[in-house]
Amino acid sequence: LQFDLLIKNGIVVTASDEVRADVAVKDGKVVMLALGLEAPEGCRVIDAEGGYVTPGLVDSHVHVAQSAAKALGAKSADDWTSASRSAVAGGCTSMIAFAVQNRGESMQAAVDAYHQLATGNAVADYSFHVIVTDPSKEQMHGELPSLIEQGITSIKIYSTYPALKLSDEQILECFYAARQYGVTTMVHAENSDMIAWMTRDLAARGMTAPWNHGTSRPPIVESEATNRVLALSELMDCPVLFVHVSAPDAFKVIREAQTRAMSVFAETCPHYLLLTGKEMRAPGFEGAKACCAPPLRENPADRELVWNSTCNGTVTVVSSDHAPTNFYDENGKQLGLTKNPGKSPRGDFRYIPNGLPGVETRGPLMWSEGVCKGRMSPSKFVELNCTNAAKLYGMYPQKGTIQPGSDADFVIWRSPTARKTSKVTVSNLHSACDYTPFEGHDIEDWPVMTILRGEVVYDGATNNVVAKPGYGQFLKRGKSVLSGPRNKWLNEWRPSYLDAAGEEDTQNASGGANGK
Ligand code: URP
Ligand code: ZN
Ligand code: ZN
Repeated sequence: LQFDLLIKNGIVVTASDEVRADVAVKDGKVVMLALGLEAPEGCRVIDAEGGYVTPGLVDSHVHVAQSAAKALGAKSADDWTSASRSAVAGGCTSMIAFAVQNRGESMQAAVDAYHQLATGNAVADYSFHVIVTDPSKEQMHGELPSLIEQGITSIKIYSTYPALKLSDEQILECFYAARQYGVTTMVHAENSDMIAWMTRDLAARGMTAPWNHGTSRPPIVESEATNRVLALSELMDCPVLFVHVSAPDAFKVIREAQTRAMSVFAETCPHYLLLTGKEMRAPGFEGAKACCAPPLRENPADRELVWNSTCNGTVTVVSSDHAPTNFYDENGKQLGLTKNPGKSPRGDFRYIPNGLPGVETRGPLMWSEGVCKGRMSPSKFVELNCTNAAKLYGMYPQKGTIQPGSDADFVIWRSPTARKTSKVTVSNLHSACDYTPFEGHDIEDWPVMTILRGEVVYDGATNNVVAKPGYGQFLKRGKSVLSGPRNKWLNEWRPSYLDAAGEEDTQNASGGANGK
């Protein structure tokens, strides 16, 4: 058996196992795991020195060069090159960003536009979810089948933000089509009217400091929308993933639905595990750096509940929700402040773009705070940061695991006795964003090396990204292999496509793959 790369002396970690094994790679794919493999002549050998070898991380929620970030009041600090360089420097080899359908535009037009931005520029492998703003029958049934053919098999929908939000009726239209075609559906759940009312009232009273962003969106804003959208998904029997879940009561309703065996998935992010609303109370306008939606929560005890939900199976994936906006504009002015001339030095939260950078820090923070601090096993880390995202978004087992046939994507981490601690600082990161909300946070271990399809793309010894833009490839994805629709209906109503077939939709039924 020939191979061209051999990773020796590592502990290979998958979502199910930790096993001492050498990994042989040929033409960018894993060909064999075995003990004591000898490298043939000309084969590159990398010594993991007793450290862990995990799959390359998958970040299934990143905003890159998102023009409709302007819908959120933001200009993306990162283009595809800087975002993906930042990704691989944090161990992430596959990223799924968003193609936003502007209102009045087709989903295909959105995908074409975002392809153009990424093609030839990424150093990590990538794909897109479509953010649906027009869920008309014409769009959903006219375009989804062709997008699936192209390997775009997931959508994100919003219950808030004027430029993006869908009504409950439109959300039902999305769920109907998503179930029919087997499309993974991500939901941003916040009650838009609550936010609008609170924002108006706070502004009228001059309560516009950065932390009032949090005041305008208390946890009930998220838990109400989560509960409501869950009901909509139950009516349509459509699997759903709630993104960036942060509110304890949102986890509660998700957990309760999972207990009833609904196909409901949750995503959370490092900032909800590690930061609190206190960050928005930093002096001057500094709190603007911590404004995201849903907001960081005030009560430090809530973070423990997020950890519990992350470790007890409620959370399916951890993503970064990388949404980078620079703090300073090109003239050195603080962004949100420039839109609030002559008023408070604290600015006005209504003009602060929502979102935090984090594609590079997600992996190292989760490894440090999760694995090194003993909150989760290396296998649980892999499940949350690699495998489940690959399964949910149709990239498994090409991505998200280490087995014969998988892409040779790895992160090498040090063994517990050899760890090198450091602190997060923006000058060491590779994003073009001018700050990190994790500045000064302790890191117990940073990747020694990131490998994508058999090539070293990041060298931790020098903190250098060595891959060239264009090495990253578009990932043509299949359908989710996590649990699918259940064929459970609330009364005699069924979607007409099932009535027409005169049978239950067994192809999409749960209890296994929902039709890859
Ligand atoms: O604050 C956030 N999360 N901004 C990014 C947009 C989104 O909804 O994920
Ligand atoms: Zn969102
Ligand atoms: Zn997001």
